Amino acid sequence: MNQSLLSLNDRDFSGLDLVMTAVIVTDEKGIVQYVNSAAQSLFDAPSRYFLGQTIEKLFENGNSLKLLVKEATSHSFSHKRTDLRLHRLGYELLSLQCTVSTAQLPGAPVVLEFQEIDQQLRVSREERLSHQYHTHKELLRNLAHEIKNPLGGIRGAAQLLEPELPNVELKEFTGVIIKEARRLELLVDRLLAPYRAAHIVGDVNIHEVLEHVRSILIVQYPQDLQILRDYDISVPEFRGDKAHLIQAVLNIAQNAAEALHGQTHPTPCITFKTRVLRQATVQKQRYRLVLLVHIMDNGPGVLPEIAEQIFFPLVSGKQGGTGLGLTLAQTFIEQHFGTIAFESKAGFTNFQLIIPLP
Ligand SMILES: Nc1ncnc2c1ncn2[C@@H]1O[C@H](COP(=O)(O)OP(=O)(O)OP(=O)(O)O)[C@@H](O)[C@H]1O
Ligand SMILES: [Mg+2]
Repeated sequence: MNQSLLSLNDRDFSGLDLVMTAVIVTDEKGIVQYVNSAAQSLFDAPSRYFLGQTIEKLFENGNSLKLLVKEATSHSFSHKRTDLRLHRLGYELLSLQCTVSTAQLPGAPVVLEFQEIDQQLRVSREERLSHQYHTHKELLRNLAHEIKNPLGGIRGAAQLLEPELPNVELKEFTGVIIKEARRLELLVDRLLAPYRAAHIVGDVNIHEVLEHVRSILIVQYPQDLQILRDYDISVPEFRGDKAHLIQAVLNIAQNAAEALHGQTHPTPCITFKTRVLRQATVQKQRYRLVLLVHIMDNGPGVLPEIAEQIFFPLVSGKQGGTGLGLTLAQTFIEQHFGTIAFESKAGFTNFQLIIPLP
């Protein structure tokens, strides 16, 4: 090995600890010589995890890194930028832009810089949608307030009028007014519900929440629905509002059950899965530990034409749906500083609650 490499140590590169980009330096064989603070934070491991290791062993799919180092040291390039997806066991798949540089000298170190790409795209998309969603919600909330009082007045007036009417045919009309006004009142009440409900915080065990929802669904769909569980029992308890979490999970699971109902699929199935994720960004904040609750079904999937807006109030893809279930669920999860994401295609839909843990 070149003498200059033997002297590589933290001190030589200590300036790189101040930069925001994650940097790993290897020798020409791909053995890690230095890892800066940003890289330790990005990959959530201390420097001793990296130092002395061959770079491909750091990740489940680290072969692409090995190839990059090999290309660099065989002088195929002095500087190359490429997109990679790296996976460490128990961690979120990271989509990264990797820049590899080396000097065209024998034994020169190889410098790998990593930047998250998905993260930036995802965060800005989330931000845009969240802004639209909150504007929508605020508008509807104000509208609901404005509608509520006159609606009560209309219903009350029709009720007073009814006994005064001389014949039964006319009473049919007041009957329609009373019934429709009542229906609208219920809708308005649901729109305003999350702002009225008290937020009661205690220690929550997420598996109790899921089991509660499971028992409700079993009663509702006694025959044709299978509900599987895949729980990570190491999930710690966290401070939260149990009733709101039950409501959020129930709304999502109910959608899944409704999507499955009447399907010709041989085994309609919902799966509840829990996992703990390390180092994830939720609502622009980076957290050390995050709870992931997957609510998955094998139904027909979310209609593509409403997929972007399903969290918006009054957006529904079903007959008789009010389109409030997911809006409420999102509001309740946001009260826990979390968010809801989903992916869907025919035969597989996965709603994920993402909630920061202590
Ligand atoms: N698991 C799922 N599979 C397929 N479509 C889904 C699923 N979950 C949600 N959707 C779609 O998203 C729409 C919005 O759901 P949301 O719960 O907000 O309203 P809703 O179910 O229509 O009415 P409600 O207020 O009664 O819940 C649904 O109408 C449905 O089209
Ligand atoms: Mg619903």
